[in-house]
This record gives sequence, structure tokens and C-alpha cells, in this order.
Amino acid sequence: DGLNTAAVAIRKTYFGTGTDNPELTDTAYVTQLNNTADFGQITPGNSQKWDATEPTQNTFTFTNGDVIADLAEANGQKLRCHNLVWHNQLPNWVTSGTWTNETLVAALKNHITKVVTHYKGQCYAWDVVNEALNEDGTYRESLWYTTIGEAYLPIAFATAAAADSDVKLYYNDYNIEYSGAKATGAQNIVKLVQSYGVKIDGVGLQAHFIVGSTPSKSSQASTMAAYTALGVEVAITELDIRMTLPSTQALLSQQQTDYSNTVGACVETEGCVGITIWDWTDKYSWVPSTFSGQGDACPWDENLVKKPAYTGILTAL
Ligand code: XIL
Repeated sequence: DGLNTAAVAIRKTYFGTGTDNPELTDTAYVTQLNNTADFGQITPGNSQKWDATEPTQNTFTFTNGDVIADLAEANGQKLRCHNLVWHNQLPNWVTSGTWTNETLVAALKNHITKVVTHYKGQCYAWDVVNEALNEDGTYRESLWYTTIGEAYLPIAFATAAAADSDVKLYYNDYNIEYSGAKATGAQNIVKLVQSYGVKIDGVGLQAHFIVGSTPSKSSQASTMAAYTALGVEVAITELDIRMTLPSTQALLSQQQTDYSNTVGACVETEGCVGITIWDWTDKYSWVPSTFSGQGDACPWDENLVKKPAYTGILTAL
């Protein structure tokens, strides 16, 4: 039994993992990535982002994104598509452009229409808007918000829906997995999009957690319930649980518990459709390069060997 077969057996849609193009030259890595007993879904970590797909205005490059999408199709894995609108990993022409409300809305709509149309039929879901909120629940002062205002959110969802009426449309963020101002802000985004009469299908809970300070299972489950009460599904979209290095047996054991609690919250929430880890091995985790001195966040170690966290996930499913 693997993570995905266990998830499907309890009527989840998938258990999956993030991945990225450079790692695909590592044959031992790819062998496990292709193992559908563990992974019934993959997410491209970078190659569908704006800088990758539209490096020059209205010139689109789908080569790297297509490699991941084609791999998912060849393996029979679902694809979570990530992402359309974010404040990071934007090309220079966007960040350094001179924009008015009108010209930026046009560029936003063109990007979403072209990218969603290209991947039409290949994605289970799109993360339409990523990380729009500050920690206090107010809108992040991104180019999108400062130029267009909060209307950029319903505009983005409406444009994605017009390009592909079948794909699930998600709002995705971190630190919205437990109750507080930011989770309330995410609920308000769902209500905002709905108030425009525009489709929003899900909230993605990134779940980039820290060993020993991961929110409790009951806290995560009750926050999931606050989203599903609005008529949307939820998914855990980028789960990893990092620690300050070096790792110890005690930290690895606590990490097992933390993974188990997070997966358990999804298991007990009917509207939680699936779980994605943000890569499966410490060898390719984004954590060490982003959080200085931290790492070992994944369920497999850097030698591609399963850690206690793997058992924590499997037994929670
Ligand atoms: C990360 C990638 O994993 C890194 O390779 C990249 O350098 C930066 O972005 N939230 C998100 C993801 O929504 O897109 C981010 O992915 C991690 C945080």
C-alpha cells in the first residue's frame, strides 16, 4: 500500500507531490515520482509561473510546463496547475512596466486566457490567485492590488472560468490553515468572488509548517470546515514540515506526529479532496535555500529513504 492508494481507498481524490524540471534528470528520483501507489497527482513547482510562461509580453513558452503535464498524463496522475496570479516570480516586463488599471487588467486577462487555454483538459485544478493576503488579513500591496484593487481577484477567476469551464479554480495561500485574521481574509476572498457571481471551487492550504509548532489536527479541521461551509472544497497543496538543522531522532519523531495531524485533519474533513507535499525528498526541497539553517522538511530523506514522517502520513490515511 502507498500514500495515494491509501488516500483513494478512503475516497480522497489523490495524494500527490510537487516536482520541478531540473530534478527530472535524476533517474532514481523519477522512478519514485512515477510511483502511482504513492503519488496520484503532481504539481509543477515553478514551470507554470508567470516568469516561465510569459517571459516577454504576449510571447508564451510552455516547454517546461508541458514536460510536467506530459509526465502526469503518461503516468495517469492528476495535475494541479500552479499558478496564474502571484506577486513573486513575475517577469521584468510586468514588475517594471508602467501600468494603468486598464492596461494591467488587459495584460492579466491575456495571461490567464492563454495559459489556461493551453492547459485546458490537463489540469484537475488551477491555483488562480496565490498569496493575496498579508498576515493581518488585509490585501498584500502587490502590483495587482495597488493598480487594480480587490477586483483583480474576481476578474482573474472569471477569466480562468471563461477559458476552461471544467477545471477547479482555487485561491491558494499559507498561514490560512488555522483560525485567525488571515484565514478570515481567505474566507472573505471566497465571499468576494462569489459576490461577483464568479466561480470559485476551492481553497488551497499550502501548509508550510514547522516541526513542533504545526497547528493541531482539531484546529486544522475546524478551519477547513469554515471554508467548506462557504460551498468550496479544500486541499492541502504544498505540505512540508521543516526543522532547524541538524535533525535528531526526537525532531524526526515530532515531525511524524505533525504530518499525521495535518493529514488527519484532511481525512476527517469530507470536503478536503487531496493532499500534496511540496516535493517528496529533502534532496530537492525548497526549504534550505529559503529558510536559512532549516531543512529536512519532506517525508523522504536526501538519500531517497523514507523517514518516520512517511509512516505518520500512511497511518493517518
Ligand atoms: C517555490 C519553489 O518551490 C522554489 O523552487 C522557487 O524558488 C520559489 O517558489 N509558495 C508557493 C510556491 O506557492 O510556488 C513556492 O514554490 C513556495 C511557497
